[in-house]
Amino acid sequence: MLADLPAQPADALLALIKLYAADERADKIDLGVGVYRTGQGETPVFGAIKGAEKKLYETQDSKAYLGPEGDMGFVEALKPHIFGTGFAAIDRIDGMQTPGGTGAVRLAVGLAKKAGITRVIMGTPSWPNHAQILKDLDLEVVTFNHAKDGAVDMNAVKAAIADAGATDAILLHGCCHNPTGIDYSNDDWDAIAALLADKGLLPILDLAYQGLGDGMEADAYGVRKVMATVPEALLAYSCDKNFGLYRDRVGAVYVMADKDQLPAIMSNGAALARANWSMPPDHGAAAVRLILEDEALTAQWLDELDQMRTRMRQVRDKLAAAGTAGGVDMVPYGTQNGLFAMLPLSSEQILALRNDHAIYMAGSGRINVAGLTMGNIDKFIDAVAAVSA
Ligand code: LMR
Repeated sequence: MLADLPAQPADALLALIKLYAADERADKIDLGVGVYRTGQGETPVFGAIKGAEKKLYETQDSKAYLGPEGDMGFVEALKPHIFGTGFAAIDRIDGMQTPGGTGAVRLAVGLAKKAGITRVIMGTPSWPNHAQILKDLDLEVVTFNHAKDGAVDMNAVKAAIADAGATDAILLHGCCHNPTGIDYSNDDWDAIAALLADKGLLPILDLAYQGLGDGMEADAYGVRKVMATVPEALLAYSCDKNFGLYRDRVGAVYVMADKDQLPAIMSNGAALARANWSMPPDHGAAAVRLILEDEALTAQWLDELDQMRTRMRQVRDKLAAAGTAGGVDMVPYGTQNGLFAMLPLSSEQILALRNDHAIYMAGSGRINVAGLTMGNIDKFIDAVAAVSA
């Protein structure tokens, strides 16, 4: 029986990690999977995380089970950073810890399905795992164009909301859109929030890069606006990027609903978690909680996050300027947000960049901007010019 299982292709994005590692060319450039890198190409553990881990080592006296909801101190401590202090609907929001942002999306979508959602509307292109999770949960997917000519396609999202049915939900990226880097403006979010409320359409918001665009507060505008406007929403949150905890898998799902119904809804979340992974891994979430409970560690973390954001802005500036100097238009990517930008390259060009220039990027043409440094941008531009000639 097991022998009848057809082989599945490796996840294309994750496969790049191994391909890049096996490449022996000294000047190789990794623009693949979305991890932050310093100007030296490293992905170090945050100093604030090291501080929290030291504290954890000294104070944690048990690793006994916590339960399917994980570390609720972590879930609560994140709330003011996500929703802001004084968020009016905060008593209608409850949450639970999940294994990374993927676990959060999985749980959010699973809850939506249990509640009767049969179809999910989403902008494309999107993070490839969104479609995989929806397919795995047997949900129908309907798509709209996320962006057109380098800007969000507001007409497309408005039409998608207008066409939504009674058992639809809509999946939206909160900030730092993956893969395009093209985000809704605050005015766009105001319009989207109002349309969602009018239509009674359930939003599933994915906030996986808070702090990597314009800052923790600015990047939360859309999520806060939508959740202040609609009666019910699901939010999938990831700390994998903004705390640099990738392999520790740290995320949370938040549910906003009628206050009296929240315990019943969260009991469904707990049941789904139990059936999927039983309990989320503790270590990274405990470290985040210890940071957020400590003023000095919180300040250190925010400072480290600022440095990441500043570097990515500098890289984007340099990318735009070097592109212009090298005859390749990179200007639009200079002002986009977060880790990603999407280049209009064919699969042949992407393969040629890998084979002939040791430059690794996703098959969609997505680059991880943080993989560029002041030292390799010119090589990158020359290579893109060469494969585009
Ligand atoms: C990415 O898009 O590169 C990241 O979100 C990592 C992942 O899990 O795909």
